[in-house]
Amino acid sequence: MAKPIQVLFISSEVEPFAKTGGLADVSGALPHTIYNLGLEVRIMLPRYGSIKNSPSKLHDMIRLQGIDVPVGDKILKANVKSSFILGTFTKVQVYLLDNPDLFGRPGLYVHPDSKKAFPDNDVRFIFFCRGVLEMLKKMGWQPDIIHCNDWHTALIPAYLKTLYKDDKFYKNTKSVLTIHNLAYQGDFPKTSFAKTLLPPELEEDVLHNGRTNFLKAGLLHADVITAVSTKYAEEIRTTEEYGCGLQSVLQKRKRHLVGITNGMDVEKWNPETDELIPQQYSLKKIELKLENKKALLARMKMPFKESTPVIGIISRLADQKGFDLIGEIIDKLAKLNAQFVLLGVGEKKYHALFEKAAKKYPEKFGVCLRFDQELAHWIEAGSDMFLMPSRYEPCGLNQLYSMKYGTIPIVRATGGLDETVEQVEPAKGTGTGFKFEEYDSKALLSVIQHAIQQFGNQALWRKIQKNAMSKDFSWEASAKKYINLYKKLLQ
Ligand code: GLC
Repeated sequence: MAKPIQVLFISSEVEPFAKTGGLADVSGALPHTIYNLGLEVRIMLPRYGSIKNSPSKLHDMIRLQGIDVPVGDKILKANVKSSFILGTFTKVQVYLLDNPDLFGRPGLYVHPDSKKAFPDNDVRFIFFCRGVLEMLKKMGWQPDIIHCNDWHTALIPAYLKTLYKDDKFYKNTKSVLTIHNLAYQGDFPKTSFAKTLLPPELEEDVLHNGRTNFLKAGLLHADVITAVSTKYAEEIRTTEEYGCGLQSVLQKRKRHLVGITNGMDVEKWNPETDELIPQQYSLKKIELKLENKKALLARMKMPFKESTPVIGIISRLADQKGFDLIGEIIDKLAKLNAQFVLLGVGEKKYHALFEKAAKKYPEKFGVCLRFDQELAHWIEAGSDMFLMPSRYEPCGLNQLYSMKYGTIPIVRATGGLDETVEQVEPAKGTGTGFKFEEYDSKALLSVIQHAIQQFGNQALWRKIQKNAMSKDFSWEASAKKYINLYKKLLQ
């Protein structure tokens, strides 16, 4: 039997170890599916201070201590810890690259209190990229594919094509770089370039508008680039707005850029088996969903009325997610026959916006400004609708979870949201959600009003729920596409 393809999946966030957003969900789920399809996959992430011996223990890898990692004019030391992620039928190996000075602090990229980015993020992620390549050599495990994700790992393809070009160990290794969000590029002062120790002739590939740009380096040197939905792959290459300054770079790599739309973890997010929610339910027993609505409202100390729809929001509170639009119409939203339940953390101005709304309209806005996995499940199960008015959305995962829970998404028609949600046509009884086009608060208000109106038609609503809940968003189809891509690269 042929040796299975060996893949190292590298990400700065991996559920259940470290998470600020959807990147962690993908990194925790996709490798399992690839593994189940017969490949050998291992995962690598930094060992942040918040990662302790739970949910699975960390073990020191005795042979992999004190590895030299050159960064700028210093040699830093890396230690490797080993752990795993348990799936229903699988156990995927996880390595954590440790350097307590760089990663042993609270917060992944920003200080948790000041919300300011760490001033040494350049050094931290240069160390991570270079450290991964050094550690693999020490360990003697030769991956066929190094699958990088976002800017934190984007120097790796550039290293492979330069410093490690003649290194026999990496002779057959190919790199894939997945873009989860093009707006985050690892943008640093010009002086950071020297710290990467990439050769001077690479300066042009790494500098962008006079600044060091990790993502650009990866985009130019990865053997293949993927984006997390087909629509987003096209948007970033063809429009200035979505291209975030790197449109021409992507245009240049057009033949090597593909969209593979994310799937979702159907084991974790399944209303029939979800152990976190008050009442499990299914399409056949959809009436039981109401118990979750009651429980959610009670938990948020809000009154319950069956005919008033609850609209859930779970999100990073960032501009990307459309909160400026919500801010413009917040008083109008409070007057609708609807209640809003929001869970999220992020920018201070949005914390203030929702704190104020909850105080002014306690029966209309239930707000929880921290991260809470259990409450996230309660909201998906207990809401009637789910709101994602994003300015842009590479893929989006919550709309997928929502559809599985019969919680009808209201989304802006952009990127993965546009691709995965099908517009409801009341006359035909088709569609899985409500979409609006213009990034504009009037358009947002009017689509919410429209959805509330349709909610009044119970037969139609059941039909929409059925359409949404019957969709298959499992990872398998996407994982197969990644595997085909790996195979093509290795031919
Ligand atoms: C980022 C994107 C989101 C995507 C996720 C996983 O968080 O903003 O749209 O779903 O990555 O790929």
